[in-house]
Amino acid sequence: MEKSYWEKMAPKYETEIFDVLKNDASGKIVKSILSFASKKKSIIDIGCAVGKWMPVLAPNFGKVQAIDISAKNLKIAAQKYKQFDNISYERVDMSASTVRKQKYDAAICINAILTAHLKKRNLFFKHMASFIKKGGDLVLVVPSLESKLYSHIIANKFNVDDAKNDKAPTGKRAITQIRYIKDGVTDIDDVPTKHFLKEELDLLLTLEGFKVLEIEKIKYNWNTEFHKPPTWLKNPKPWDWLVVAKKK
Ligand SMILES: C[S@@+](CC[C@H](N)C(=O)[O-])C[C@H]1O[C@@H](n2cnc3c(N)ncnc32)[C@H](O)[C@@H]1O
Repeated sequence: MEKSYWEKMAPKYETEIFDVLKNDASGKIVKSILSFASKKKSIIDIGCAVGKWMPVLAPNFGKVQAIDISAKNLKIAAQKYKQFDNISYERVDMSASTVRKQKYDAAICINAILTAHLKKRNLFFKHMASFIKKGGDLVLVVPSLESKLYSHIIANKFNVDDAKNDKAPTGKRAITQIRYIKDGVTDIDDVPTKHFLKEELDLLLTLEGFKVLEIEKIKYNWNTEFHKPPTWLKNPKPWDWLVVAKKK
């Protein structure tokens, strides 16, 4: 998932890209953000895309920095949220070797660390940590590898969405997929996407200087995974990981 992908996706973002805010029926993410919100604080939204979180952030923080790798996404967000005069938009590639130095009281990063490339993810985590002041807060949401594997297992066992007729990859594609899955990278809509383990998140954030306060599930309905989920399929539901952490 590189810059060109996100630029191409920008005009059709609303219909193509999963809306975490809308699908978090528990409201846990908003609750976590509001737990440290203050008009005296600044916050950065890393990978803000078309600005879905602006109506949560702008009224509750003094200053909002909205950054994304896609210039088109940022333009759409700025156009859409003209009513808020405390938002600055900036194009930043979180996987670039260097980024402009900046510090905020808090950060959110919702389903933006998705790249299949380890080096790019390492830089993303490093820059994210550098953007948060000592004692500052982080709300991070990422795809769960446990959830993804659980969905695959259910699909294969019960032939959900005719999974048994899925063609197994061959040749180079098969080799790439094996390498990828060992690193937690598996396709979402045919795009190799990093998925994370709970323990992995704990370790990565601790190494970047965070105290991890909680890691919990943001649960979604089964129709987010399958076109035709079996009617008996209830709990556990598919999930993303929500991490709440503090910069040490
Ligand atoms: C799935 S969208 C999530 C958007 C938003 N956070 C939300 O919850 O609606 C992922 C966003 O991350 C951005 N992104 C991906 N890689 C990035 C990078 N290296 N630097 C900055 N933004 C990036 C993409 O452009 C895209 O807008």
